[in-house]
Amino acid sequence: MTGKAAGIFCAIDTPDLAAAEKLATDLQGVVDIKLGLEFFTAHGAAGVAKVRAAAGAETKFFLDLKFHDIPNTAAGAVRSAVAGCAPDFLTVHASGGHAMIRAAAAAAGGTKILAVTVLTSLDENELSAVGQGDDTQAQVLRLARLAVDAGAGGIVCSPREIALLRKELPRETLLVVPGIRPAGSAAGDQKRVMTPDEASAAGANYLVIGRPITEAADPVAAARGMRA
Ligand code: C5P
Repeated sequence: MTGKAAGIFCAIDTPDLAAAEKLATDLQGVVDIKLGLEFFTAHGAAGVAKVRAAAGAETKFFLDLKFHDIPNTAAGAVRSAVAGCAPDFLTVHASGGHAMIRAAAAAAGGTKILAVTVLTSLDENELSAVGQGDDTQAQVLRLARLAVDAGAGGIVCSPREIALLRKELPRETLLVVPGIRPAGSAAGDQKRVMTPDEASAAGANYLVIGRPITEAADPVAAARGMRA
């Protein structure tokens, strides 16, 4: 347990630059922001700069590009992302292996590398279909240990693995958790979900929350409502 409420990153997943800027402006001072593949593929570093300007200098920025490639290419991609966007957090897939994560961490400068263990959209059936028939918790723990050993500053995991990882990993390892749904909201494609309060109490450092905020009639009120 961290003993303190988790921070929140709002996942702004849209290809619409104006909509992303508006959300970033409106959410300033309420939650931090995350941009990912949908936005970045459409608008690149120039678009990121516009959204960050709208969010203000105090807002933490998470660039979720989930790199997974050979170590040399992943390290180069990290260098380009850091040079172009200077994010606080940047993601790679832990399944890219020790050498890839180590190369990414070495190239990251002041940016923290977060390693994605198992996507929160995958359930046991789908994991087994892609050849990961092992117990999901065991797979997450194996990948998380490998990533921390290789120099990752944090782990992206589903809410259901927070307690296990909090117990098994060094205290300073950040746990960043998507798959968050307030009671009564639609799960969408997320399979392994928890409410914001439950995830925070279990020991998450940051929650990643997208559609429950961005698709709300009033995103600012929805974001405020997520905070314990
Ligand atoms: O809309 P929703 O709350 O499901 O958004 C969750 C966000 O977290 C998305 O931006 C998704 O890409 C990201 N994410 C995830 N599972 C991971 C890593 C990141 O859902 N393992």
